Amino acid sequence: MVAFMRRRTAAALLSITGLLVLALSNPAGEWWTALQQPYQSEDLIKCAYDKCIPEGDDWFMAHLNQTIHPFLTPQSNLSAKDFLWWKKLQRDPNDLAAFKRVVDKVFQLFPEGKGFMDSGSQRCRSCSVVGNSGNLLASHNGALIDFSDCVFRMNGAPTKGYEEHVGKKTTFHIMYPESAVDLTDNRTHLMLVPFKTRDLQWLISAFTTGSIKFTYLPVKAKINANKDLVRILNPQFIKYVYEVWLRNSGGYPSTGFLGLMLAIHICDEVNVFGFGADQNGNWRHYWEELKDKTLRTGLHSGTEEYRLIQKLAAKGKINFFPGH
Ligand SMILES: *[C@@H]1O[C@H](CO)[C@@H](O)[C@H](O)[C@H]1NC(C)=O
Ligand SMILES: *[C@@H]1O[C@H](CO)[C@@H](O)[C@H](O)[C@H]1NC(C)=O
Ligand SMILES: *[C@@H]1O[C@H](CO)[C@@H](O)[C@H](O)[C@H]1NC(C)=O
Repeated sequence: MVAFMRRRTAAALLSITGLLVLALSNPAGEWWTALQQPYQSEDLIKCAYDKCIPEGDDWFMAHLNQTIHPFLTPQSNLSAKDFLWWKKLQRDPNDLAAFKRVVDKVFQLFPEGKGFMDSGSQRCRSCSVVGNSGNLLASHNGALIDFSDCVFRMNGAPTKGYEEHVGKKTTFHIMYPESAVDLTDNRTHLMLVPFKTRDLQWLISAFTTGSIKFTYLPVKAKINANKDLVRILNPQFIKYVYEVWLRNSGGYPSTGFLGLMLAIHICDEVNVFGFGADQNGNWRHYWEELKDKTLRTGLHSGTEEYRLIQKLAAKGKINFFPGH
């Protein structure tokens, strides 16, 4: 976990060189395969040089809570208080008992959500969190992004046609039913952010009968993704990010900010791309024209999230690439 963060003095360049050397010294394809097996930490590419060292910071350490598991597991015992907070996000009519019954069903179909929580001085998992901002265009950061062990993307984010700026690798694709897309790479983890019990029911349905076609909007009835790699964000983690990090600003955290916080909890080095407005001050997705320029970040506190990203960068906890 984050207790072991890499010192960043010239680290980026050195580690890229190191990875290149690793890539070249392995038979073709092997290093890529190693990168794609995130369950077995021993298979992960280690830090190119052994410099995962603790870096304390009072503000950061006071916020970071490593006891809250980011993934929902059969053992996540959501408290009544946390459930009450979560069920208000999208007016879930279900009670806690009904929620727990659905969770039980989920784990009859999907894996238990383990993995990625290993930590220690031997591990150095580098991650790139790629937001959806138009400021990614013309950034030429694709290769840099793909060098990370894990790449996080959100919602509709396409890579085809944008590889030069956004990369092509996706380890976690974070989505909710209303934003869901098919995943083309069988090695990508579908990461569901649930905002209501029906989202978990949708997940089951989307991999089986396809019977749920509507939540508060029409949703995809079926989804193409590797069932064995599905992960679900723990509602308790969403509450923690909102209350502790965002100090209750905005309705609830954006998918992008949740992805960034997930990375902070399961990675040792976090690179952040594609957050914030573009050079014209517009909050738009990199793959579409902005139709309504008054549209900003809706329910989410874009200002507070952006302020936190800048603060994390100033304290050396993330490498922030602001784009253009
Ligand atoms: C971390 O979260 C747990 C569960 O909400 C809480 O009991 C604990 O006090 C928190 N720890 C810190 C250091 O804030
Ligand atoms: C879950 O937590 C409740 C209290 O919040 C407790 O009564 C119950 O025994 C716990 N269940 C498990 C399986 O840990
Ligand atoms: C995807 O990966 C799973 C193992 O996780 C495997 O069983 C399945 O055959 C793969 N599907 C394709 C289309 O490669």
